[in-house]
Amino acid sequence: NDQLVIAIDGPSGSGKSSVSKAVARALGAAYLDTGAMYRAITYSVLANGTDLSDATAIAQAVRDAQLEISVDPDAELVKIGGVDVTAAIREPRISEQVSTVATNLDARAELVRRQQEIIKANARIVAEGRDITTVVAPDANARILLTASEEARLRRRGLQLGGSQNDEQLATQVLARDAKDSTVVNFTQAADGVMTVDSSDLDFEQTIAAVLDAISTAT
Ligand code: C5P
Repeated sequence: NDQLVIAIDGPSGSGKSSVSKAVARALGAAYLDTGAMYRAITYSVLANGTDLSDATAIAQAVRDAQLEISVDPDAELVKIGGVDVTAAIREPRISEQVSTVATNLDARAELVRRQQEIIKANARIVAEGRDITTVVAPDANARILLTASEEARLRRRGLQLGGSQNDEQLATQVLARDAKDSTVVNFTQAADGVMTVDSSDLDFEQTIAAVLDAISTAT
């Protein structure tokens, strides 16, 4: 089997998405943003007025979801039930609720299954998220945990610790989402055989180079 699968995990604000996209372009590979799938489900659950405290209803919504996602690193497109939600899934209200879907184990199982199907259908693919190196693609050709210090992650979002009250509030939200996500997936420590790239002191281009370097070491 000469398929190439690159798995990249990391917390929010690690630069994971933009770095993974650039790495996919450099490798002539497809790109899968698994976070966008969790976000799209959250969008539809909110749009349908599904009770967020009803775990069974959320799990059912995922199984029923008609989810389409582009794997072209140059053409971001996410549709659910035929509706283009590419922009809508980036709204703060989605970020605030997405962990409710992500901590639902039945919802995860169904999304993992769909992610594995998408990966299988591509000869070369970079898949990015929280559980790709451990659950979705533990047999990937290269597995990387992209980390960054808390300070660096907030800085990339334009937030400063000890800044304005609004900054503090946003910073708290970002950290709270990671803390909630961490209860079901461990993306703060590299699992056995997973390489860590710490981007705290690297700029964008340097981070891409470091990830490509890690990939050539592994493949
Ligand atoms: O990567 P992004 O911040 O867009 O992910 C949104 C949310 O989706 C995360 O906060 C997490 O709750 C969930 N997620 C996940 N597992 C993945 C990818 C994302 O639980 N593989």
